[in-house]
Amino acid sequence: MSQTAIAPPPKVAPAAAASRPVYDETILKYFTIAAMFWGIAGFAVGLLIALQMAFPDFNIPPYLTFGRLRPLHTSAVIFAFGGNVLFATSYHVVQRTCRARLFSDGLSWFTFWGYQAFILMAGLGYVFGVTQGKEYAEPEWYADLWLTIVWVAYLINYLGTLWKRQEKHIYVANWFYLAFIVTVAILHLVNNVSVPIEIGSVHSYSAWAGVQSALIQWWYGHNAVGFFLTAGFLGIMYYYIPKQANRPVYSYRLSIIHFWALIFIYIWAGPHHLLYTALPDWAQTLGMTFSIILWMPSWGGMINGMMTLSGAWHKLRDDPILQFMIIALSFYGMSTFEGPLLSIKAVNSLSHYTDWTIGHVHAGALGWVAFISFGAIYYLVPHLWKKPGMYSTKLISLHLWVATVGIVVYITSMWVAGIMQGLMWRAYNEMGFLTYSFVETVAAMHPYYIIRAIGGLLFLLGALIMVFNIWKTIASPDSVASETGTPSLTPAALPEHV
Ligand code: HEM
Ligand code: HEM
Repeated sequence: MSQTAIAPPPKVAPAAAASRPVYDETILKYFTIAAMFWGIAGFAVGLLIALQMAFPDFNIPPYLTFGRLRPLHTSAVIFAFGGNVLFATSYHVVQRTCRARLFSDGLSWFTFWGYQAFILMAGLGYVFGVTQGKEYAEPEWYADLWLTIVWVAYLINYLGTLWKRQEKHIYVANWFYLAFIVTVAILHLVNNVSVPIEIGSVHSYSAWAGVQSALIQWWYGHNAVGFFLTAGFLGIMYYYIPKQANRPVYSYRLSIIHFWALIFIYIWAGPHHLLYTALPDWAQTLGMTFSIILWMPSWGGMINGMMTLSGAWHKLRDDPILQFMIIALSFYGMSTFEGPLLSIKAVNSLSHYTDWTIGHVHAGALGWVAFISFGAIYYLVPHLWKKPGMYSTKLISLHLWVATVGIVVYITSMWVAGIMQGLMWRAYNEMGFLTYSFVETVAAMHPYYIIRAIGGLLFLLGALIMVFNIWKTIASPDSVASETGTPSLTPAALPEHV
């Protein structure tokens, strides 16, 4: 099997080499393995619920029904897979770009085990029917409190590392990670204010009610997309694409504009989830307007990432890791074009409640979030385990193509199904009666649900190929002395002033 080519280590100035700290890489290995473990679990549950929608016999009451497994899937892929990827990469990037070991080993381990414990608490809760019923914020009060403690530890560890940095500049990737950590903390605290229904009960009442509750929930939900699924992963983009391409970021100035524009605009767009509801009309229009404006910083960031390859496009030809990253950016561009479109009231009146939304979600989630994560993990594994490269480049390519076909099958089936569903719901005859009964629309979806499950199966197969490749890489006897590939915080790939 062939080995992936890793760019030769950039030259390190003797002074810099002498003062190189001993980075904490063990914690990065733990988070990386946890990410892959939860990723496979989350994709597998995704496949199972896709099959349940196509063939209801796959529901096994009472614990393994669609209603209980759906939040298990969303939490596993977003918080367990995505969260562990963000911990691994943020802890890696902050150490490298600050030329400092993580602030506290104790806090690093606490965040690792504390976060895994949160995942278990949340996941077991869903299966046993313990949920507060808020999408993406399903865990009950006890798990929320625990996550708050873990998250504060994460923030202290991150800020502490920035504090003791040996570099003057704080590289832009850290800005994105910090925005993710701080904003998620605020969203989590506000949306989850609740009181247990009685002393000792695992269930609770929310402090919010009515339309205020809906607004807070979707302020939370949309910014979970904006700061968890976007800002954090843009941090990955700003470090790992330049590193893998061995090129400086296309425009450092654009990255700063990108940062401030994105975080300022995202926070106002939540009401696009509540169009045509009891929410005051002006608030709906505000949400729609900010969503449309959001297109600009999103594409500014995408262009900045892609143009990082300018002058080095040839690298895309035979580096599947870079291909993962650039395909991820293409899907990011596609879903951030589709999102503003869906937020236009007239379009949303057709798309809302339909599988078009599910298609949009998975273009962003599979194409952007998962692909940029795969790229970063393929980059990280050989560096962390001190190997000359991944075990097999061919298997990375195979993963890339199997997963890309899977995504395309998934999202196109959902687009067709969703638009058909919306049109069938609103069709009426000359007497003013609905043309189709609801059950006819459900029956019409059946073939598309089967196609979607095939897309999901391909995506899962791709991830299993990745696990095999990682396992063979770690198990291989080859090793490189130390510090190959990322020897210093000032790699040639990052701007000189970092
Ligand atoms: C093998 C891969 C996957 C499959 C087969 C799959 C399948 C599904 C299915 C069947 C649903 C329920 C749709 C419905 O209620 O109509 C769903 C929802 C969802 N999935 Fe996935 N999924 C996969 C991967 C992912 C990944 C990697 C992410 C995120 C990183 C993700 C995020 C979500 C979200 C956020 C929802 C809720 C969407 C909404 O409420 O609008 N999925 N998925
Ligand atoms: C400019 C950027 C974006 C805008 C303006 C946007 C806008 C929208 C709109 C209008 C909806 C439909 C709301 C509804 O009818 O209920 C939606 C749903 C959703 N989008 Fe986006 N989107 C953007 C990017 C993304 C990205 C990059 C991702 C994933 C990484 C994503 C994940 C989701 C999810 C998970 C939902 C489903 C929420 C739910 O109902 O459960 N979006 N988005």
